[in-house]
Amino acid sequence: MKFFADTSDINDIKELENSGLLDGVTTNPSIIAKSGKQFLPLIEEICSIVHGPVSAEVASTDYETMIKEGKKLAKIADNVAVKVPLTPAGLKVCKELSDEGTMVNVTLCFSAGQAILAAKAGATFISPFVGRLDDLAQDGMQLISDICQIYANYPEWNTEVLVASVRHPVHIIESAKLGADVVTCPPSVIKQLFNHPLTDKGLAAFVDDWKKTGQSIL
Ligand code: E4P
Repeated sequence: MKFFADTSDINDIKELENSGLLDGVTTNPSIIAKSGKQFLPLIEEICSIVHGPVSAEVASTDYETMIKEGKKLAKIADNVAVKVPLTPAGLKVCKELSDEGTMVNVTLCFSAGQAILAAKAGATFISPFVGRLDDLAQDGMQLISDICQIYANYPEWNTEVLVASVRHPVHIIESAKLGADVVTCPPSVIKQLFNHPLTDKGLAAFVDDWKKTGQSIL
């Protein structure tokens, strides 16, 4: 399973890239607004740090403007994945860009039917938002299960399931159990996967006991 960081924070991205755990980055207009930075140079900088796909989202909603924005974003770097909303116009843009060889991430997916449409439009990634469904007392992980099951029935569809709106480590673990291709998470949630009190306790005991031996490996 691939790990994408759902952030535009350069320090976090560099830290994760250096850890060897990072496979890509996703952004959205809200993340860009929060950064306070200029969108295009920021995406260019992220693309130069990260070896994998970097999702950059179009800002408009009509086909004519979205396709122009998508083509401009795709020119920033080879690893840009143009992000488009799951609308009729967005999927038209998806088909056109995918046919040209550009990676496309179809975002704001909240149903299995929408995921079927995105696959038929040639999306590289479909982004179902599990956290936002959970917030409405709907079962986000059930949607991931449904999409994984459906996509497995059609091996000719190459769309990867990119679990988005991840809020906690259980979302990551459940996604892995279901065989989802990618999770995109805030960096803090990726780091939470490391945590276990027995690891801390066990390591402290090993360090103490090693000191008692008076030995050195180096
Ligand atoms: C995915 O690509 C989105 O940027 C993101 O996961 C949305 O997460 P949120 O629901 O926490 O805003």
